Amino acid sequence: MRQAIANAEVGDEQRREDPTVNELERRVAELLGQAEAVYMPTATMANEIALRALSEPGDELIAEENAHIFSAELGGPAVHAGLMTRPTRGEKGRFGPDEIQRMVRRTDGTHVPPTRIVAIENTHNASGGRVWPLEEVRTLVAACRELELVVHLDGARIMNAAVALGVPAAEIAGQFDTVTLCLSKGLGCPLGALVAGSHELMVKARRLKHQFGGAMRQAGIVAAAGVYALDHNVDRLAEDHERARRLAERLHEAGVPVDLEQVQTNFVQVDVGALGLDNAEALERLARDGVGLSATPHPGVLRALTHLDITDEHVDRASELIPKALGVLSHA
Ligand SMILES: Cc1ncc(COP(=O)(O)O)c(C=O)c1O
Repeated sequence: MRQAIANAEVGDEQRREDPTVNELERRVAELLGQAEAVYMPTATMANEIALRALSEPGDELIAEENAHIFSAELGGPAVHAGLMTRPTRGEKGRFGPDEIQRMVRRTDGTHVPPTRIVAIENTHNASGGRVWPLEEVRTLVAACRELELVVHLDGARIMNAAVALGVPAAEIAGQFDTVTLCLSKGLGCPLGALVAGSHELMVKARRLKHQFGGAMRQAGIVAAAGVYALDHNVDRLAEDHERARRLAERLHEAGVPVDLEQVQTNFVQVDVGALGLDNAEALERLARDGVGLSATPHPGVLRALTHLDITDEHVDRASELIPKALGVLSHA
């Protein structure tokens, strides 16, 4: 990837003259089954611009209560798009047509804010990287279409979902009006994300990107990492998933509370609360032993994850260190 970055052909991205950015945008649009894609610095910006492009201020956005767009983008949908945010309580990060039919609001132009966007997250970060079954996505999108709602996919980790399901990403992402793909997570790039959708929506997205200050110059330097990642780092996500599964099984055997059903991609959630520890204490103990886990939106639940720099040896080592650090050695 460093070599690809060093050798990148570049131009002025703002003028759409950077051949590497153009190539990345073309490849990602095709990958996601969308007409066009726009390169962005981050997935947060891709989400925010998608939501803004899809709506008018005062419209309502429905998403799961722990969705990244609600819990980790600093109120961006309200700030950037003037959206009314309407969280729904999902089951494992998911919700269905019944929920949308119950929540949708219609307006005659007085009083009531019209529901406009339904957004889903796949894989769902806060529920431990769980994947939406394809059929559930189809049913939900069909229900939204019937209600004349637009649909956004926060597919920051959509390639993990596609690899876990064994389907082309376009089969999932092609159903949505707009899709975010992040390059700096499992795909291993230093930065970058894309938003994809119809030509009309991407014209809006490019304008918004410039207004948000995200239009760049020789961005091919980093876009080259994205092109490299599409060629080399997609199929290998299956290895991350296998390692996460192995880590979860080893921890479970050692008596660490992990929900094996949750482990569908590259996350392992550790229920330190069940051991009588709070997040801060558990994180400190783990860090002392050289293991880096992170917090989740759920009190007492931490997250371990695997990625392209995590080897089998790391998994072996973490499987030994985590139970010790959390004080469950006696169960091993
Ligand atoms: C589901 C989801 N969407 C969007 C983002 C935002 O990504 P970035 O940090 O690139 O803005 C994240 C980051 O963790 C995420 O998990």
